[in-house]
Amino acid sequence: MKHFISWFYVVIMAFLMMACQNEDANATVPSGGNPTDTKTLIVYYSYTNNTKQIVDDLKSFIDADVIQVEPVNKNLDYAANNYVVGTEQLSKIKNNPNDESSYPEIDDVSVDLSKYNTVIIATPLWWSQMASNMQTFLFKYGKEMEGKNVGLIVSSHSSGISGVEADAKRLVPNCKFFAKSLWINASKHSQRKSLLEQWLKDIDYSNLTSNIMNTMYLKVNNNTMKVTLSDNAATRALVERLKEGVITYNAHDYSGFEKVGALGFSLPSADSYITTEPGDIMLYTGNQLCVFFDNNSWDYTPIGKIEEMNKQQLEDVFGDGDVSITLSLEEAAGLVSIFAKHEDIAKGIYTLKGHKLDKAPANGMYIENGVKKIKR
Ligand SMILES: Cc1cc2nc3c(=O)[nH]c(=O)nc-3n(C[C@H](O)[C@H](O)[C@H](O)COP(=O)(O)O)c2cc1C
Repeated sequence: MKHFISWFYVVIMAFLMMACQNEDANATVPSGGNPTDTKTLIVYYSYTNNTKQIVDDLKSFIDADVIQVEPVNKNLDYAANNYVVGTEQLSKIKNNPNDESSYPEIDDVSVDLSKYNTVIIATPLWWSQMASNMQTFLFKYGKEMEGKNVGLIVSSHSSGISGVEADAKRLVPNCKFFAKSLWINASKHSQRKSLLEQWLKDIDYSNLTSNIMNTMYLKVNNNTMKVTLSDNAATRALVERLKEGVITYNAHDYSGFEKVGALGFSLPSADSYITTEPGDIMLYTGNQLCVFFDNNSWDYTPIGKIEEMNKQQLEDVFGDGDVSITLSLEEAAGLVSIFAKHEDIAKGIYTLKGHKLDKAPANGMYIENGVKKIKR
């Protein structure tokens, strides 16, 4: 009974605080970004372990790295004196949300967000807002999540989560929020497994993460080239196989316009009559891959296209006769070796796709005189 009265008070207070807030209940879904990696990161904070239990169960459904946010000060009793510490911390943030000193200090987390294209944030709700320690993490790292898919899981006693969604939107600008957040309140905490399973289905998690895998790498004769993948059942199945490891197959010349070879397994094909262009990669009879240097018209399923390579460059790189071809999802170190072969484009500044630039970009990766560089 005491518990109920205390939470009744908490919920009323939260309602009053929210009334003063200029909130936006709907998390938006901006577009943009071109991620090349499907890795997922789960980042969570948990004071009384409810969120931790949710994350533990989530890990049984998806493949993801996990980091836990911890406050530097481990001795704070957030529930003492009617939750006064949490209240004070949240008021400080609210009064000055752009000032780093408003946020409680958290332990250092060494996380390289560039490795992930999907981040799932799991947090308790405090006074209808995002728990302050999680806000600190997002204040520090939220901008690095630009363009990524971001999901939000909120654990509360009973309050609704629109205030937490508004905090996430403020702290993680320009990301692609999942179509809906997952709210697990105290009365549903015991059903968290089935709620997680349903949420992953609702947001089409597996399709979302395999759809956004739109790049693979093709290595031949020590040259590694970037391939932009088509989006179809064949490429999704190929990506699933590549997640287990690289695929190497032998290919031979055919009619002077392609290298073709058997993969050793079949992919789901949906052939149509296509006229190929240099750089096109096609699936033929469901189990052979053809790399085209020139035009040919036949029934194929598109797999992808080698970027920025013309007929002559492709012929130089693939050479005459039988070759071993390796497909992978990882950007290989040999990417710049293509440039070394073509002296005319080796000098100067280029994007990773080979577009020539007048000067180095303000930030991001580029190639200068054949050497890959990063500006932050
Ligand atoms: C400082 C503080 C404030 C809270 N405020 C609310 C609230 O406004 N509404 C609510 O339903 N629950 C509130 N709660 C309860 C938590 O959201 C809930 O117990 C949650 O499951 C805790 O997650 P955790 O175990 O991972 O820390 C609050 C808890 C704390 C510690």
